Amino acid sequence: MSFRSHLEKIKDLKIVKKPVSKKLEASAIINELVDKPVKFEKVKESEFSVAGNIFPTKQSIADYFGCKVNELIPTITKAIENPTKPTMIENAPCQEVELDETDLDKIPILFHCKNDGGNYISSGVIIAKHPKLGQNLDFHRSMQIAKNKFVIRIVKKRNFDCFLQELKTMPMAICVGNGANVLVAAATKAKTFDAIIPANCEFVFEGTISLEEMADEGPFIDLTETQDIVRKEPVFTVTKITHRKDAIWQALLPGKFEHKVLMGMPREPTMFKKVNEAGIKCIDVNVNSGGCSWLHARIKIDKKTEEDGKKAIEAGFEGHKSCKHIFVYDKDIDIYNDQECEWAMATRFQADRDFVMKDKEKGSSLDPSAEAETKMTTKCGFDCTAPLKTKGKSFGKAPFPKADLKDYLE
Ligand SMILES: Cc1cc2nc3c(=O)[nH]c(=O)nc-3n(C[C@H](O)[C@H](O)[C@H](O)COP(=O)(O)O)c2cc1C
Repeated sequence: MSFRSHLEKIKDLKIVKKPVSKKLEASAIINELVDKPVKFEKVKESEFSVAGNIFPTKQSIADYFGCKVNELIPTITKAIENPTKPTMIENAPCQEVELDETDLDKIPILFHCKNDGGNYISSGVIIAKHPKLGQNLDFHRSMQIAKNKFVIRIVKKRNFDCFLQELKTMPMAICVGNGANVLVAAATKAKTFDAIIPANCEFVFEGTISLEEMADEGPFIDLTETQDIVRKEPVFTVTKITHRKDAIWQALLPGKFEHKVLMGMPREPTMFKKVNEAGIKCIDVNVNSGGCSWLHARIKIDKKTEEDGKKAIEAGFEGHKSCKHIFVYDKDIDIYNDQECEWAMATRFQADRDFVMKDKEKGSSLDPSAEAETKMTTKCGFDCTAPLKTKGKSFGKAPFPKADLKDYLE
């Protein structure tokens, strides 16, 4: 389903009719709305409309896929394991309008926060093609530095970086205004061997990226909600802009819920799979937002042996290499409830017995506490499951009698 068809289906979409500025105003309103979807019908500097907070929760992504939240892990796992080729169409909606000039100032690319280095595309899915390896889709924030240029943040050693280091100069496209199917795939090491562009997206910027032209990128807020440093990054020169008729710009606030859910959620199936492959019955994984939806993960298991908790910690790190702290819980704990998770740790965890500390290794480039130059970090795990045999008090919550309050209160 396309971005715009999904927008039409959102029942509680807030509509802002008053013209808003793409500079600091639209981002402020989206942020005030936290996770409520919104559409700005008029943007002062552009003829296009803008929509934000479209996929800020797992529920919104489950709604898009037509499944329940607890069906997302199996749904995404099935999609990863059974990749299908997309249907190719002529006359794609995203190419309905082909602009004669490449003036990025006319596009509602938001300026999000006052210390940002410039206007940023933060929801753009980048498509690059390698002659032998095929096509890669992923996200790269893109800062506008001229009417026809962006500087692109590229984390080292990922597919896109490997393509560019080898090819030095390559064609690429940024696609904005995608449905959750493309957004999740784009953050899930999606890789096909046909060069394709999501036909139903709203805007496409085509051009060339080159290591021969570098520029300062940043500052910009990253996933951890802290301000990232300025780095020299490659420049993308736009040679063609196409868009749908009445195209809708997709805003995505850096560090906020939508960014978090799109980063963390695709790691849940990979962790889930590794824990099960290690012979432990994994029930669910939550790469929770309090841990920046990247650095922390909660794993729920059906514990059968005393070693299961620690084995799940090791397997979890295999499934998400950038994770720093893993917490393992029993099946009676709601891993979406912070209070219950803390309760399990308070009542079931003993540091000398249940704590796993790993040797220093390279961690996430996003973690402000990792060593600045090397990104070396200390990962650890907390087995918050109860021992199978209790020698003292029991570990389950004692049940209270039930009462129907309607019978007692007016
Ligand atoms: C909203 C969002 C923004 C992202 N921004 C960047 C970015 O600016 N630079 C980057 O290298 N990766 C960024 N990522 C992460 C890449 O998409 C991630 O590296 C990719 O999923 C890894 O795929 P790969 O291993 O195929 O390269 C972002 C992810 C999301 C969900």
